[in-house]
This record gives sequence, structure tokens and C-alpha cells, in this order.
Amino acid sequence: MTARIIDGKKIASKIHDEVKVGVRDFESKYGSLPGLAVVLVGDDPASHSYVKGKEAACAKVGIMTETIRRKASITQTELLETLGRLNSDPKFSGILVQLPLPKHLDEDAVIAALDPAKDVDGLHPVNAGLLMLGQPRFAPATPLGVQRMLLEENVNLNGAKVVIVGRSKLVGMPLMALLLQKGPGANATVTVCHTGTKDIGNETRQADVLIAAAGFPGAVTADMLKSGAIVIDVGVSRVEDSTKKRGYSLVGDVEFSGASEVASAITPVPGGVGPMTISMLLVNVLQAANLAAATSRRSSNLR
Ligand SMILES: NC(=O)c1ccc[n+]([C@@H]2O[C@H](COP(=O)([O-])OP(=O)(O)OC[C@H]3O[C@@H](n4cnc5c(N)ncnc54)[C@H](OP(=O)(O)O)[C@@H]3O)[C@@H](O)[C@H]2O)c1
Repeated sequence: MTARIIDGKKIASKIHDEVKVGVRDFESKYGSLPGLAVVLVGDDPASHSYVKGKEAACAKVGIMTETIRRKASITQTELLETLGRLNSDPKFSGILVQLPLPKHLDEDAVIAALDPAKDVDGLHPVNAGLLMLGQPRFAPATPLGVQRMLLEENVNLNGAKVVIVGRSKLVGMPLMALLLQKGPGANATVTVCHTGTKDIGNETRQADVLIAAAGFPGAVTADMLKSGAIVIDVGVSRVEDSTKKRGYSLVGDVEFSGASEVASAITPVPGGVGPMTISMLLVNVLQAANLAAATSRRSSNLR
């Protein structure tokens, strides 16, 4: 069997077009643009490059964006003050704090200081809780991207056995909650593996849909897959590659060539889940803007 390649770029481009239309509608209805504030602390090159990607994607669909850059030496109090100002600034419907933060900052406290109605990364405890309760508002973009990809590929998740390798609060955990929801694009039976799982292969070999988010190359090999499984590779790692100008290549968690012989469909790295993540962030920003506008309309009608 040679697996069909699931083209994340193509699906992402379709979502960009949808968001573009949504932004135009928003502007004609409310006379302003949805706005995203990105808070970038320190000089981490990877974070700078991710933020650049987000700025470019916002610009493409017409979302107003502003990056608030702060030195790595910023104190917790100063950062919370910055967030407080952004929380009360109506031109931003969404706020995103680029992670990871420098070690001296308390990441959980920073996320908890965001207005949950502007938390487009879906990491605030209120949004994480709503998702667990089956009332999702903002879910993190990567899990949303994986779910949307499966929907676009017409994968019937109703009753399907899904195995996720990885239980992080950014990927594995919210993905489990999303795919467990009762409804379309979900209603799966979900198993989540982690470093405490006794025999991961025994779990993954039962998966109709296998989602790898462990964070190291070779975490999933061909012998860990059921024949005909759908394989979604969230992992992204840099491996040395002297044939590349930049000196490295990006690879996923799944041993791609072997897995392609067993799976029925598989996402590549790069070009799979990565592009979906940015698209779903745009979806969340537009949704936040629409929710905020509807709420402010409702409250002005009550006055
Ligand atoms: N494409 C994208 O847009 C995108 C977005 C986000 C993340 N990523 C990539 O996805 C990967 C995962 O990211 P993350 O933030 O979720 O990473 P993370 O916070 O490091 O979590 C990794 C998870 O994998 C589990 N794990 C690690 N080694 C394992 C092993 N040998 N067996 C079983 N489970 C194992 C860990 O288990 P424990 O909990 O037991 O430690 C943990 O739950 C990374 O490569 C990251 O770069 C990609």
C-alpha cells in the first residue's frame, strides 16, 4: 500500500480564503478589522520566525496585527501590566503570547492573566475547561488544525479508534478533548499514550487514526501501525542536513517512508499539520472578533 499524501498547504489555503471572506464581512458589518496582538518576549530565533509567519498570515487575510516586543529581562509584573493594557484595548479581539517565555517568567500565571475572551491560543484555564466540558470556545490551533484536516479528508471519526502519542497541554490533551466531543468531526474512542504507557506499539497498532505528537523523529515506525491507518504527524524536529543551505531539515515524529507503505493516508513534514496551525489561529481571531462584537451589541441594546 502506498499512502495518499494529505496536503496541509492546500487545505490551509482554502481556510485562508474562508477567513478572508469572513474578515470582509466583519468589516462591512462593524466598520473595523479583527485585531491580533502578539506578545514576543526575548530573542529566541525560532519564536521570532513563528511570529513573522503569523504576521504574514494575518496580513494576507486582512487581520490587523501588532507585535509587542519586550526584552528577555522583562519582569513578571511588567509583562502582566502589558497584558492588562491589551486586555482592555478594544482594537485587539485576540491576544497571543508567543511561548516559550524566558525561564524567570511564570508561564501559567501569564496565560491566566489574559482575558479568556481574547485567548485565541485556547490555553487559558477557562477555555481549556470549556473544552473539557464539551462546550469549546477557543481550542489551541494545532489540535483544531488536525481535526479540520480529518474533516476535509472525509475521515469518519464517529466510533473510530484514535490513538494520540503525546499528552501536552498544547497538542495531545486538547486534541483528545476535541475528538471526544459528541458531534461531527469527533465522537471517536480516544487513547492517549505518554512516557508512562507500557507498550505503545500495542496501542498504536489498534488505531484507525494515529496522531503522533511526541516530539522526536522515529517516535512512530511502520511496525507500530495498523494496515490502512490514517497517520497525522504533528511532530517537527530539526535534523542536521549538510545538503541544505541552512544546515538542517525538518522532520516529523513518524518514520515517513516505512509508514507510507502501511498507512492509507499520511501527512508530510513539512507541509502537513504546520500550515494548518496558522490557519486555525486566523479562524480563532475572527471568531473572537465576532463574539466580542456580538457581546458589545447585546450589552448596548440592554442600556
Ligand atoms: N506543526 C505544528 O504546528 C506544531 C505545533 C505544536 C507542536 N508541534 C510539534 O509537535 C511535537 C510535540 O509538541 P508538544 O508541544 O506537544 O511537545 P511536548 O510538550 O514536549 O510533549 C510531548 C509529549 O510526548 C510524550 N512523549 C515524549 N516521548 C515519548 C515517548 N518516548 N513515548 C511516549 N510518549 C512520549 C510526552 O510524554 P510525558 O507527558 O509523559 O512527558 C509528552 O506528553 C513537537 O515536535 C513540536 O515541535 C508542531
